[in-house]
Amino acid sequence: MVVQGELFVIGNWKMHLTQQAATDLASTISDPKTSHDAVTIGIAPSFVALAAAKASRKSDDILIGGQDCYPVDEGAYTGSVSAAMLRDAGCSFVICGHSERRTHQQETSHFVREKAESAIKAGLHVILCVGENAGFREHGSYLSFVETQLRESLPASATRENLTVAYEPIWAIGTGKHASRTDIEEMHDHLKAVLHELLGEKIPRIIYGGSVKPNNALEIMSLPVVDGVLVGGASLDAAAFNAILDAAYQITSNQTRDDGRSKAAQ
Ligand code: 13P
Repeated sequence: MVVQGELFVIGNWKMHLTQQAATDLASTISDPKTSHDAVTIGIAPSFVALAAAKASRKSDDILIGGQDCYPVDEGAYTGSVSAAMLRDAGCSFVICGHSERRTHQQETSHFVREKAESAIKAGLHVILCVGENAGFREHGSYLSFVETQLRESLPASATRENLTVAYEPIWAIGTGKHASRTDIEEMHDHLKAVLHELLGEKIPRIIYGGSVKPNNALEIMSLPVVDGVLVGGASLDAAAFNAILDAAYQITSNQTRDDGRSKAAQ
């Protein structure tokens, strides 16, 4: 089992960084400071920078992941990379169904499920992304929209060991406007209930993504319903990503995870 941490912090480098820049950035990400049980760290470089990032990271405990995979092991699929190939390249996880792929490559939830199934079969941990756009949020149908996405994208073989769900509201990605703690709690609670219904007691982690920065990471990860973060822009800056990791270490070492709702109800 590669993902053991109470908190899972992942940098999604998207379509950024040359091999040299990936080498420089990977080499400045902090060594895991606490036991592997507390915080699991991952970085997802572009396919062509996987080897550079893998070779230059400070510790094997910083997991390397792909940003996408094609759901067939090998064959005539020009331009695609399979989960088995990612595993061979040293990846431990792969991101499936990111909203940027659902939008720009018109990926359906059915196709995302096939990708996730192939990744689990190849021995990779899946980061399964779901999230609504501003229209669904404003219309008020965001819970049912994301629930449907999750139901249709989730492989039958999903477990806590082989899959993590990432809730990434599209309106919060790259905008500097992160979801409020109420928004996050409402959605994570809802998705946890759906996962519980589908998979039973031991449900996958749910992490949050969308404008996670050093100045909000502590607040977001302190929420008991949040099992980590998926970071875009801030993961391209070593100081910012290390500050987010420090917030995760602070939370897991001080056990400062606190439920604001119960406080508010007191
Ligand atoms: P930002 O952190 O830049 O908003 O990106 C979030 C994201 O899409 C991570 O997958």
